[in-house]
Amino acid sequence: MRKLIYGLSALAAVAAIAIAVLAYRIIDQGMGSTATIVGEASIGGPFTLIDGAGETVTAADFAGKPMLVYFGFTFCPEICPTELLNIADAIDLLPADVAQRIQPIFITVDPERDTPEVVGEYAGNFHPRMVGLTGTPEQVRTAAQAYRVYYAKEEPAGGGLYMMAHSSYIYLMDGEGRYVRHFRMGTTPEEIAAAVMAHAETK
Ligand code: NI
Repeated sequence: MRKLIYGLSALAAVAAIAIAVLAYRIIDQGMGSTATIVGEASIGGPFTLIDGAGETVTAADFAGKPMLVYFGFTFCPEICPTELLNIADAIDLLPADVAQRIQPIFITVDPERDTPEVVGEYAGNFHPRMVGLTGTPEQVRTAAQAYRVYYAKEEPAGGGLYMMAHSSYIYLMDGEGRYVRHFRMGTTPEEIAAAVMAHAETK
């Protein structure tokens, strides 16, 4: 009987974890697929953040380079890695002269865990040219607000690792840091590369 109870409670624990993961995925995906962006023309703008080397960087440091910008967090189990891989693959699909001008940028919404070193190494794992940025909670909030990015910490009921719910869009910004367009979650590397090319050709 005792064994059965242990067995059942273990099963319940596994089920609870499965439900939590599922709920998280629905939240993460829901943000990306159903949220609407208001005031697209005003997306982006100046930011002050910290790079993987611990140096302060601002939007001005990327002047002249169109940017592919994504906000997320390094503990993200699925959505962020998928989207960052799509950015990396898109860059590799571009002709070398265009690819060299595009600056992929990952900005964390979890500065508490994503230190400069963590975020820099994480971004570099997706693409050697991808820059990972973090900052003080205030700096991150300012950057996220500029891009109309929603994020919120989600503490698990039973303790343990927290998750970050966040909207999931890839932003294409021009060389002057102005918004060009965004890509919904699940946009393929081919579609992203084609849009970057279309933008590059209007220049
Ligand atoms: Ni994520």
